[in-house]
Amino acid sequence: MPNRDLTNMRNSYEKGFLLEKDCDKNPIFQFEKWFQQAIDDNLYEPNAMQIATVGNDLHPSLRTVLLKSFDENGFVFYTNYESKKGVDIKENDKVALLFWFREHERQVRIEGIATQTTEEMNEIYFRSRPRDSQIAAYLSNQSIVIENRNSLDELFLQIIQEFKDLEIPIKKNWGGYNIKPTVIEFWQGRQNRLHDRLQYTLKDNQTWILERLAP
Ligand SMILES: Cc1cc2nc3c(=O)[nH]c(=O)nc-3n(C[C@H](O)[C@H](O)[C@H](O)COP(=O)(O)O)c2cc1C
Repeated sequence: MPNRDLTNMRNSYEKGFLLEKDCDKNPIFQFEKWFQQAIDDNLYEPNAMQIATVGNDLHPSLRTVLLKSFDENGFVFYTNYESKKGVDIKENDKVALLFWFREHERQVRIEGIATQTTEEMNEIYFRSRPRDSQIAAYLSNQSIVIENRNSLDELFLQIIQEFKDLEIPIKKNWGGYNIKPTVIEFWQGRQNRLHDRLQYTLKDNQTWILERLAP
């Protein structure tokens, strides 16, 4: 049985700092600033984020998805509405998102409310995807138990044949979620574990309050 001692595995975070005076009043602009820096420095998949959901069973469930757009209304990703996360969100629309920009020693935590994106948005994004991804979305009943790998590959080939010269239809169970944020925390690693943590909280659904949290 593996029995690894990892107590000495640690880094000192020294890449930057985050001060109130440098922060935008609006956290979406602040996120845009950090996200653009992640792109400029070629971070690997900076739009990969973790989304935590909690359904009726009260067990938190976490997985990675790809952020596909963000603006003042929220953060959008696409998935299967009947997947584990889709079922959880149907039961409880409160979710949390997490970004870890490792090379920048930065973390962004978001809490918010998930709502399904419009059919029009789903259609536009679905049609922008490579055809093979459209086929995968069409054939996969995400999160159900399947017999084996072969059945998946065979179904893929079968759908290719079936829709040879046709558009791949969008199933009703596929689409996006928009996460409208209510809390956004920006974390910048600092020396001696005295990290910077600045948290924006939405008050009265319109004003963002900025507060510093203890590391
Ligand atoms: C880098 C990365 C990106 C992913 N992007 C998505 C995505 O955008 N949408 C999605 O449904 N699943 C995505 N996945 C797969 C999910 O992590 C997860 O396996 C799947 O959505 C099923 O989750 P669920 O059973 O909890 O609903 C991604 C996984 C990784 C590692």
